[in-house]
Amino acid sequence: MVYHEIYEIKGCYKLIRSLIKGVGSYAPPKVLTNADLCDMVNTSDEWITSRTGIKERRIARDNVTTADIATYASKAALEMAKIDPLEIDLIILGTVTPDMLFPATACMVQHRLGLKNAAAFDISAGCSGFIYSLSIADSFIRSEKFKNVLVVGVDILSRITDYTDRATCILFGDGGGAAVLSANYNGGRGILSTHIHAEGGHDDILKLPAGGSCMPASLGTMTNRAHFIKMKGSELFKYAVTYLKDVAMEAILYNNLKPEDIDLFIPHQANMRIVEATAKKLGFPMEKVFVNLQKYGNTSNGSIPLALDEAYRSGRVKEGDIVLVDAIGAGLTWSSALIKW
Ligand SMILES: CC(C)(COP(=O)(O)OP(=O)(O)OC[C@H]1O[C@@H](n2cnc3c(N)ncnc32)[C@H](O)[C@@H]1OP(=O)(O)O)[C@@H](O)C(=O)NCCC(=O)NCCS
Repeated sequence: MVYHEIYEIKGCYKLIRSLIKGVGSYAPPKVLTNADLCDMVNTSDEWITSRTGIKERRIARDNVTTADIATYASKAALEMAKIDPLEIDLIILGTVTPDMLFPATACMVQHRLGLKNAAAFDISAGCSGFIYSLSIADSFIRSEKFKNVLVVGVDILSRITDYTDRATCILFGDGGGAAVLSANYNGGRGILSTHIHAEGGHDDILKLPAGGSCMPASLGTMTNRAHFIKMKGSELFKYAVTYLKDVAMEAILYNNLKPEDIDLFIPHQANMRIVEATAKKLGFPMEKVFVNLQKYGNTSNGSIPLALDEAYRSGRVKEGDIVLVDAIGAGLTWSSALIKW
């Protein structure tokens, strides 16, 4: 137990943690393989596999939206948590591909799931959005503002991916997940800490230029393909390896732990080379690292909750395990959370 986790209330000390009571995820059934991409751009399965580790990704049908995926994933998480929907106090949804700029996609999910007592808002923090959302949810719970919070991370990156740009279209896919966090007044299990960072000076490395107030949609933005992801891949790669290692170490040290105390590391599922380099720097053997990017590619906000759900449902995470998650994304933003499952 760390001293800063204990709150003094009317002379009594109590430890509140946000327990992850339920997880759920959803990935659309349609698969886009490396072979499919070879028919679209000048690339090869060998190049994609050796540079990224990705073999295939999922693509949402035209009529499926971020709110749909968020709703499916949230339903599964709520079922696992066995919680009355009316007891959810708040929904936070991380995404860079909301259904619309406003209203928030979280409000659509709130309505569809009948979470009538929940406040709802979206978070835009690039691929860190899910962990940023976990951090906000954890703060609300530990400050006793709310008891039950639904945290969701979903993206349909195929809607903003340029399938004529071989440097980016091989990386991205669609999907997402959700987690139900509930106040645990007995201490022990739950989120041990979260750590969130940003460096806006690197805003040019990964961005979607058009569609905001800076470059509103016009015929010109359409012609210039400005509604698609623009990325400086090799620059981002270097920051990813450094920041993912730093923010993971920050979580470990903050909790007075050592890398060997971590049972499972779930890094942002962006690129196998980034995952392996980060794990090596942290001294984690690959058996302790969860990877599913070969099946989904980078799903941005969907990456961590999709992996968390799959890790739990496949038995890789058991009660009492110490699980470390971290992510990096546009902003730049980077973040981590340490969880006692
Ligand atoms: C995108 C990424 C896989 C590219 O790998 P890389 O080793 O950095 O490759 P480079 O961009 O330096 O390009 C090397 C060469 O491969 C070529 N290339 C790029 N994409 C290619 C593809 N899909 N198939 C074949 N060749 C490709 C480039 O044109 C370049 O050719 P050149 O040397 O003749 O100019 C890698 O930079 C990456 O993963 N970066 C991080 C991306 C990321 O994680 N983004 C999301 C974070 S939230």
